Amino acid sequence: MTGGGAAPRSHGRLSISASRQPRSLMDEQPRLAGRWTARVITLLPEAFPGVLGLSLTGRALAEGLWALETINLRGFGKGRHRNVDDTPAGGGAGMVLRADVLSAALDEAAAGTPDDPALWPRLLLSPRGKPFTQARARALAAARGVTLVCGRFEGVDERVIAHCGLEEVSIGDFVLTGGEIAAQALLDASVRLLPGVLGNAASIEDESFSRGLLEHPHYTRPAEWEGMRIPDVLLSGNHAEIARWRREQAEALTRARRPDLRDAPGSKAVPR
Ligand code: ADE
Repeated sequence: MTGGGAAPRSHGRLSISASRQPRSLMDEQPRLAGRWTARVITLLPEAFPGVLGLSLTGRALAEGLWALETINLRGFGKGRHRNVDDTPAGGGAGMVLRADVLSAALDEAAAGTPDDPALWPRLLLSPRGKPFTQARARALAAARGVTLVCGRFEGVDERVIAHCGLEEVSIGDFVLTGGEIAAQALLDASVRLLPGVLGNAASIEDESFSRGLLEHPHYTRPAEWEGMRIPDVLLSGNHAEIARWRREQAEALTRARRPDLRDAPGSKAVPR
C-alpha cells in the first residue's frame, strides 16, 4: 500500500467504511469484477456518497449494481502536514495541486483497471473542461468504470494532466469551490443509465437531450388547477395526436431555450 494510509474506501453493498485500515490494492481487484465502479480522488471523502447514497442511485449502490470508492488525496501529501498543494510558479493567487501527489493517487486508483481510456476514463472535474453532456453520460455508463479527480485549488499542475492523460470535464459555465458536487452530478447522470438502475427504460428514451430535444411539458391531476386546464389533447385518448402535440411542444421549447441543441451531432430534431 502506497500513500501512507490512503486506503480506498468503499461505499455500498461491499462497504468497508467501518475500517480505515490500509489494505493491499490487490485485494481490491476482485471487487471490480463485472461491477461498474467509480473511483473518486478527493480531499473530502466524507462528501461521498452524499446524494448518490439516496433514492435510485443509493438503492443501486446497496444492491451492488455499481460501486463507489473514495481515495483520500491527503494520504499522498508531503511532509508532516501532508501538503498536497503549493504556490503557483510565476506567482499569483491561490494554490496549485502538486503533480507528484496527484500522480501517486492516480497510480493507486489505476490498480486493476483497464489501460484503455474508452473502457476506464480518467477525468478531472474542472470549469476549464469540455462540457459534460448526456452523450458523455451514455459513454461513461457503457465503460467499465471511471476515475474522477476532484480539485479544490486554483489549479492542477499541468504536467500531471498531460502525463497521466487526464481529461478535463466541466458540468457548466460556473465555478464551484471544488469538484465534489460536479463529480456527484456526473456520477448521478451516468449511474442512472446503468442496466437495472432505472425501472422504466422507456423514460430514458423520451427524456431531455436523448433526441437532441428538451422534453415536452407534463401534466397530472387535478384536471383544473388555479384556473389552468390540462390541454384537451392529452385527455383525448388519441395517442397519435398526443405524440404529435408532444413533439411540437418539445421542438418549440428547444427552439426558444436551447437552439444550439438542434445543431448538435446526433440530434433528430427537424432542421430549421
Ligand atoms: N470545479 C469547479 N467548478 C467546476 C465546474 N463548473 N465543473 C466541473 N468541476 C468544477
